[in-house]
Amino acid sequence: MDLVVRAVRAEADGVRSLELAPAHDGERLPPWSPGAHVDVVLGTGPDAPVRQYSLCGDAGGTGDTGDTGAAGDTWRIAVLKTADSRGGSRHVHENVRAGDVLTVRGPRNHFSLRGSSRYLFIAGGIGITPILPMIAATEAAGADWRLVYGGRTRAAMAFTDRLEPYGDKVTLVPQDEAGTIDLDALLAAPEPDTLVYCCGPAGLLDAVEDRCAAWPPGTLRVERFAPAAKDPKDPEDPADSKDLGEEREFTVVLRRSGLTLTVPAGTSILQVCRDNDVPVLASCQEGICGTCETEVLDGEVEHRDAILDADERAANDTMMICVSRCRGAALTLDL
Ligand code: FES
Repeated sequence: MDLVVRAVRAEADGVRSLELAPAHDGERLPPWSPGAHVDVVLGTGPDAPVRQYSLCGDAGGTGDTGDTGAAGDTWRIAVLKTADSRGGSRHVHENVRAGDVLTVRGPRNHFSLRGSSRYLFIAGGIGITPILPMIAATEAAGADWRLVYGGRTRAAMAFTDRLEPYGDKVTLVPQDEAGTIDLDALLAAPEPDTLVYCCGPAGLLDAVEDRCAAWPPGTLRVERFAPAAKDPKDPEDPADSKDLGEEREFTVVLRRSGLTLTVPAGTSILQVCRDNDVPVLASCQEGICGTCETEVLDGEVEHRDAILDADERAANDTMMICVSRCRGAALTLDL
Protein backbone atom coordinates (compact mmCIF):
# COMPACT_ATOMS: atom_id res chain seq x y z
CA MET A 1 0.00 0.00 0.00
CA ASP A 2 1.17 3.56 -0.62
CA LEU A 3 1.50 5.81 2.40
CA VAL A 4 2.35 9.47 2.53
CA VAL A 5 4.96 10.76 4.96
CA ARG A 6 2.96 13.21 7.01
CA ALA A 7 5.79 14.32 9.29
CA VAL A 8 9.49 13.71 9.89
CA ARG A 9 10.89 14.34 13.36
CA ALA A 10 14.34 14.20 14.94
CA GLU A 11 13.88 11.94 17.99
CA ALA A 12 17.52 11.69 19.16
CA ASP A 13 21.04 11.86 17.78
CA GLY A 14 20.89 9.71 14.63
CA VAL A 15 17.21 8.77 15.02
CA ARG A 16 14.37 10.13 12.90
CA SER A 17 10.73 9.15 13.09
CA LEU A 18 8.29 9.12 10.20
CA GLU A 19 4.57 9.53 10.59
CA LEU A 20 2.78 7.68 7.79
CA ALA A 21 -0.80 8.07 6.64
CA PRO A 22 -2.88 6.65 3.76
CA ALA A 23 -2.06 8.37 0.50
CA HIS A 24 -5.68 8.43 -0.65
CA ASP A 25 -8.75 10.01 0.95
CA GLY A 26 -11.08 7.61 2.72
CA GLU A 27 -8.46 4.89 3.23
CA ARG A 28 -7.78 3.48 6.69
CA LEU A 29 -4.69 1.70 7.95
CA PRO A 30 -5.07 -1.92 9.05
CA PRO A 31 -5.13 -2.57 12.81
CA TRP A 32 -1.94 -3.69 14.50
CA SER A 33 -0.80 -4.91 17.88
CA PRO A 34 2.26 -4.07 20.00
CA GLY A 35 5.43 -5.68 18.62
CA ALA A 36 4.27 -5.44 14.99
CA HIS A 37 6.52 -4.20 12.22
CA VAL A 38 6.09 -3.09 8.64
CA ASP A 39 8.21 -3.52 5.52
CA VAL A 40 9.09 -0.24 3.88
CA VAL A 41 10.30 -0.07 0.28
CA LEU A 42 12.96 2.62 0.14
CA GLY A 43 13.26 3.66 -3.45
CA THR A 44 11.87 2.50 -6.78
CA GLY A 45 12.50 -0.43 -9.09
CA PRO A 46 12.75 -4.16 -8.47
CA ASP A 47 16.03 -3.86 -6.55
CA ALA A 48 14.88 -1.09 -4.18
CA PRO A 49 15.87 -1.95 -0.61
CA VAL A 50 13.12 -3.17 1.70
CA ARG A 51 13.60 -2.59 5.41
CA GLN A 52 11.64 -3.59 8.50
CA TYR A 53 10.63 -1.05 11.13
CA SER A 54 8.63 -1.60 14.29
CA LEU A 55 5.48 0.44 14.72
CA CYS A 56 6.15 2.66 17.69
CA GLY A 57 3.01 4.78 17.93
CA ASP A 58 -0.06 3.89 19.90
CA ALA A 59 -1.82 0.69 18.84
CA GLY A 60 -4.88 1.57 20.89
CA GLY A 61 -5.35 5.19 19.93
CA THR A 62 -5.64 6.40 23.51
CA GLY A 63 -2.08 7.20 24.48
CA ASP A 64 0.06 10.27 24.03
CA THR A 65 2.16 9.18 21.10
CA GLY A 66 2.69 12.47 19.40
CA ASP A 67 0.92 11.18 16.30
CA THR A 68 -1.40 13.70 14.72
CA GLY A 69 -4.13 11.17 13.94
CA ALA A 70 -5.95 8.49 15.87
CA ALA A 71 -4.98 4.84 15.57
CA GLY A 72 -6.07 3.69 12.13
CA ASP A 73 -5.15 7.03 10.61
CA THR A 74 -1.38 7.10 11.10
CA TRP A 75 1.54 4.83 11.78
CA ARG A 76 4.82 5.87 13.27
CA ILE A 77 8.23 4.29 12.69
CA ALA A 78 11.70 5.33 13.84
CA VAL A 79 14.92 4.84 11.90
CA LEU A 80 18.47 4.80 13.27
CA LYS A 81 21.12 6.04 10.88
CA THR A 82 23.74 3.33 10.92
CA ALA A 83 27.33 3.71 9.80
CA ASP A 84 27.23 0.44 7.85
CA SER A 85 23.88 1.22 6.23
CA ARG A 86 23.31 -0.70 3.00
CA GLY A 87 21.26 2.26 1.82
CA GLY A 88 18.07 1.93 3.86
CA SER A 89 18.65 4.10 6.89
CA ARG A 90 20.80 6.59 4.99
CA HIS A 91 18.01 6.99 2.43
CA VAL A 92 15.50 7.76 5.17
CA HIS A 93 17.80 10.26 6.87
CA GLU A 94 19.01 12.03 3.76
CA ASN A 95 16.21 11.81 1.22
CA VAL A 96 12.79 11.19 2.76
CA ARG A 97 10.74 14.34 3.33
CA ALA A 98 7.20 15.16 4.46
CA GLY A 99 4.86 14.70 1.50
CA ASP A 100 6.84 11.81 -0.02
CA VAL A 101 4.97 8.58 -0.76
CA LEU A 102 6.43 5.25 0.42
CA THR A 103 5.33 1.72 -0.41
CA VAL A 104 4.69 -0.19 2.81
CA ARG A 105 3.67 -3.80 3.44
CA GLY A 106 2.25 -5.25 6.61
CA PRO A 107 1.88 -4.97 9.51
CA ARG A 108 3.11 -8.36 10.71
CA ASN A 109 3.86 -9.44 14.24
CA HIS A 110 6.30 -12.13 15.37
CA PHE A 111 6.99 -10.35 18.67
CA SER A 112 3.51 -10.20 20.09
CA LEU A 113 2.76 -9.37 23.70
CA ARG A 114 1.39 -12.33 25.62
CA GLY A 115 -0.78 -11.93 28.68
CA SER A 116 0.94 -11.81 32.07
CA SER A 117 0.66 -10.03 35.38
CA ARG A 118 4.31 -8.87 35.30
CA TYR A 119 6.74 -7.85 32.58
CA LEU A 120 10.40 -6.94 32.41
CA PHE A 121 11.25 -5.01 29.26
CA ILE A 122 14.87 -4.65 28.18
CA ALA A 123 15.71 -2.35 25.28
CA GLY A 124 18.98 -1.41 23.64
CA GLY A 125 19.18 1.64 21.38
CA ILE A 126 16.60 1.70 18.59
CA GLY A 127 15.24 -1.56 20.08
CA ILE A 128 13.06 0.69 22.22
CA THR A 129 10.61 1.08 19.31
CA PRO A 130 8.53 -2.13 19.65
CA ILE A 131 8.71 -1.84 23.44
CA LEU A 132 6.92 1.55 23.52
CA PRO A 133 3.47 0.28 22.43
CA MET A 134 3.96 -2.79 24.63
CA ILE A 135 4.41 -0.53 27.63
CA ALA A 136 1.32 1.49 26.70
CA ALA A 137 -0.74 -1.71 26.43
CA THR A 138 0.68 -3.13 29.66
CA GLU A 139 -0.01 0.09 31.51
CA ALA A 140 -3.57 0.18 30.14
CA ALA A 141 -4.11 -3.42 31.27
CA GLY A 142 -2.96 -2.57 34.78
CA ALA A 143 -0.12 -5.12 34.76
CA ASP A 144 3.10 -4.66 36.70
CA TRP A 145 6.09 -3.74 34.52
CA ARG A 146 9.48 -2.15 34.43
CA LEU A 147 11.84 -1.14 31.65
CA VAL A 148 15.61 -1.06 31.54
CA TYR A 149 16.72 0.94 28.50
CA GLY A 150 20.35 1.25 27.47
CA GLY A 151 21.95 3.45 24.84
CA ARG A 152 25.30 4.90 23.84
CA THR A 153 24.57 8.33 25.28
CA ARG A 154 21.48 10.03 26.74
CA ALA A 155 21.25 12.23 23.64
CA ALA A 156 21.20 9.16 21.39
CA MET A 157 18.33 7.49 23.26
CA ALA A 158 15.06 8.12 21.46
CA PHE A 159 11.64 8.63 23.05
CA THR A 160 12.86 9.29 26.60
CA ASP A 161 10.22 12.04 26.69
CA ARG A 162 7.48 9.42 26.24
CA LEU A 163 8.93 7.37 29.07
CA GLU A 164 9.30 10.20 31.56
CA PRO A 165 5.71 10.03 32.88
CA TYR A 166 6.30 6.44 34.00
CA GLY A 167 8.75 7.57 36.70
CA ASP A 168 10.79 4.90 38.45
CA LYS A 169 9.29 2.08 36.38
CA VAL A 170 11.89 3.13 33.81
CA THR A 171 15.66 2.87 34.29
CA LEU A 172 17.78 4.63 31.68
CA VAL A 173 21.33 3.35 31.26
CA PRO A 174 23.37 5.69 29.03
CA GLN A 175 26.61 3.83 28.50
CA ASP A 176 28.87 6.89 28.75
CA GLU A 177 27.44 7.69 32.20
CA ALA A 178 26.59 4.32 33.72
CA GLY A 179 28.21 1.60 31.62
CA THR A 180 26.19 -1.20 30.07
CA ILE A 181 23.05 -2.75 31.55
CA ASP A 182 24.01 -4.99 34.50
CA LEU A 183 22.29 -8.12 33.21
CA ASP A 184 23.87 -10.34 35.87
CA ALA A 185 22.07 -8.36 38.56
CA LEU A 186 18.89 -7.77 36.57
CA LEU A 187 18.38 -11.42 35.62
CA ALA A 188 20.15 -13.13 38.51
CA ALA A 189 17.11 -14.95 39.86
CA PRO A 190 14.08 -16.13 37.90
CA GLU A 191 11.03 -14.09 38.85
CA PRO A 192 7.79 -16.06 38.89
CA ASP A 193 5.00 -15.01 36.52
CA THR A 194 7.25 -12.52 34.77
CA LEU A 195 7.67 -12.35 31.00
CA VAL A 196 10.87 -10.81 29.67
CA TYR A 197 10.73 -8.92 26.35
CA CYS A 198 14.00 -7.77 24.82
CA CYS A 199 14.86 -5.89 21.63
CA GLY A 200 18.19 -4.39 20.68
CA PRO A 201 21.58 -5.24 19.21
CA ALA A 202 22.51 -8.91 18.74
CA GLY A 203 25.06 -8.77 21.56
CA LEU A 204 22.40 -7.66 24.05
CA LEU A 205 19.95 -10.32 22.85
CA ASP A 206 22.57 -13.06 23.12
CA ALA A 207 23.53 -11.92 26.62
CA VAL A 208 19.91 -11.78 27.78
CA GLU A 209 19.21 -15.23 26.31
CA ASP A 210 22.25 -16.54 28.15
CA ARG A 211 21.13 -15.08 31.51
CA CYS A 212 17.54 -16.28 31.03
CA ALA A 213 18.57 -19.88 30.40
CA ALA A 214 17.73 -20.66 34.02
CA TRP A 215 14.31 -18.98 33.85
CA PRO A 216 11.19 -21.03 33.08
CA PRO A 217 10.84 -22.01 29.39
CA GLY A 218 8.86 -19.47 27.41
CA THR A 219 9.75 -16.58 29.72
CA LEU A 220 11.88 -14.70 27.23
CA ARG A 221 10.78 -13.20 23.93
CA VAL A 222 13.28 -11.39 21.73
CA GLU A 223 13.10 -9.72 18.36
CA ARG A 224 16.09 -10.27 16.13
CA PHE A 225 16.96 -8.64 12.84
CA ALA A 226 20.18 -10.66 12.46
CA PRO A 227 20.89 -14.38 12.78
CA ALA A 228 21.29 -15.74 16.28
CA ALA A 229 24.56 -17.30 17.36
CA LYS A 230 24.24 -21.00 16.65
CA ASP A 231 23.71 -23.39 19.56
CA PRO A 232 25.01 -26.78 18.38
CA LYS A 233 23.25 -28.51 21.29
CA ASP A 234 19.81 -27.25 20.40
CA PRO A 235 18.17 -29.04 17.46
CA GLU A 236 15.38 -26.46 17.48
CA ASP A 237 17.82 -23.57 17.14
CA PRO A 238 16.67 -21.69 14.03
CA ALA A 239 20.27 -20.74 13.29
CA ASP A 240 20.89 -24.43 12.72
CA SER A 241 18.16 -24.57 10.15
CA LYS A 242 20.37 -24.04 7.15
CA ASP A 243 22.19 -27.25 7.98
CA LEU A 244 19.06 -29.37 7.69
CA GLY A 245 19.81 -32.32 5.45
CA GLU A 246 20.31 -32.48 1.70
CA GLU A 247 18.32 -30.12 -0.46
CA ARG A 248 15.91 -31.82 -2.86
CA GLU A 249 13.98 -30.65 -5.88
CA PHE A 250 10.25 -30.08 -5.37
CA THR A 251 7.25 -28.51 -7.06
CA VAL A 252 5.62 -25.26 -6.06
CA VAL A 253 2.10 -24.36 -7.18
CA LEU A 254 1.39 -20.61 -7.21
CA ARG A 255 -2.38 -20.56 -7.00
CA ARG A 256 -3.10 -16.90 -7.75
CA SER A 257 -0.58 -16.81 -10.61
CA GLY A 258 -1.79 -20.13 -12.03
CA LEU A 259 1.79 -21.41 -12.30
CA THR A 260 3.37 -24.75 -11.39
CA LEU A 261 7.15 -24.42 -11.09
CA THR A 262 10.06 -26.67 -10.21
CA VAL A 263 12.35 -25.57 -7.38
CA PRO A 264 15.73 -27.24 -7.94
CA ALA A 265 18.11 -28.15 -5.12
CA GLY A 266 20.24 -25.13 -4.29
CA THR A 267 17.66 -22.60 -5.54
CA SER A 268 15.10 -20.85 -3.34
CA ILE A 269 11.39 -20.53 -4.00
CA LEU A 270 11.97 -16.80 -4.01
CA GLN A 271 14.52 -17.07 -6.81
CA VAL A 272 12.28 -19.36 -8.85
CA CYS A 273 9.43 -16.84 -8.49
CA ARG A 274 11.64 -14.00 -9.64
CA ASP A 275 12.96 -16.03 -12.55
CA ASN A 276 9.34 -16.48 -13.66
CA ASP A 277 8.36 -12.81 -13.21
CA VAL A 278 6.17 -13.47 -10.17
CA PRO A 279 6.37 -10.31 -8.04
CA VAL A 280 7.58 -11.05 -4.51
CA LEU A 281 9.03 -8.70 -1.88
CA ALA A 282 12.25 -9.69 -0.16
CA SER A 283 14.94 -8.03 1.86
CA CYS A 284 17.46 -10.08 3.87
CA GLN A 285 17.12 -13.33 1.86
CA GLU A 286 18.46 -15.08 4.95
CA GLY A 287 15.24 -15.93 6.76
CA ILE A 288 15.60 -13.23 9.41
CA CYS A 289 13.44 -10.27 8.37
CA GLY A 290 10.07 -11.77 7.41
CA THR A 291 9.60 -9.64 4.29
CA CYS A 292 9.03 -12.64 2.03
CA GLU A 293 6.51 -14.34 4.36
CA THR A 294 3.97 -16.18 2.22
CA GLU A 295 0.76 -18.01 3.03
CA VAL A 296 0.90 -21.79 2.60
CA LEU A 297 -2.25 -23.36 1.16
CA ASP A 298 -1.13 -26.98 0.90
CA GLY A 299 1.92 -29.16 1.52
CA GLU A 300 4.33 -29.48 4.43
CA VAL A 301 7.01 -26.83 4.96
CA GLU A 302 10.60 -27.46 6.01
CA HIS A 303 11.14 -24.24 7.95
CA ARG A 304 14.65 -22.81 7.75
CA ASP A 305 14.06 -19.27 8.97
CA ALA A 306 14.96 -17.64 12.27
CA ILE A 307 11.60 -15.91 12.76
CA LEU A 308 8.80 -18.38 13.40
CA ASP A 309 8.58 -20.00 16.81
CA ALA A 310 7.78 -23.67 17.35
CA ASP A 311 4.00 -23.13 17.41
CA GLU A 312 4.06 -21.00 14.27
CA ARG A 313 6.15 -23.61 12.49
CA ALA A 314 3.81 -26.38 13.52
CA ALA A 315 0.80 -24.42 12.23
CA ASN A 316 2.29 -24.78 8.72
CA ASP A 317 0.24 -21.87 7.39
CA THR A 318 3.03 -19.47 6.52
CA MET A 319 6.67 -19.66 5.38
CA MET A 320 9.70 -17.57 4.43
CA ILE A 321 10.22 -18.42 0.78
CA CYS A 322 13.79 -17.09 0.71
CA VAL A 323 15.11 -20.02 2.76
CA SER A 324 12.39 -22.51 3.69
CA ARG A 325 11.61 -25.51 1.51
CA CYS A 326 9.22 -28.45 1.15
CA ARG A 327 9.27 -31.63 3.22
CA GLY A 328 7.33 -33.55 0.58
CA ALA A 329 6.90 -33.37 -3.17
CA ALA A 330 4.89 -30.15 -3.54
CA LEU A 331 3.76 -26.95 -1.87
CA THR A 332 0.85 -24.74 -2.85
CA LEU A 333 1.33 -21.06 -2.03
CA ASP A 334 -0.87 -17.96 -2.08
CA LEU A 335 1.14 -16.24 -4.79
FE1 FES B 1 13.96 -11.76 4.80
FE2 FES B 1 12.88 -13.82 3.45
S1 FES B 1 13.61 -11.95 2.67
S2 FES B 1 12.99 -13.56 5.59
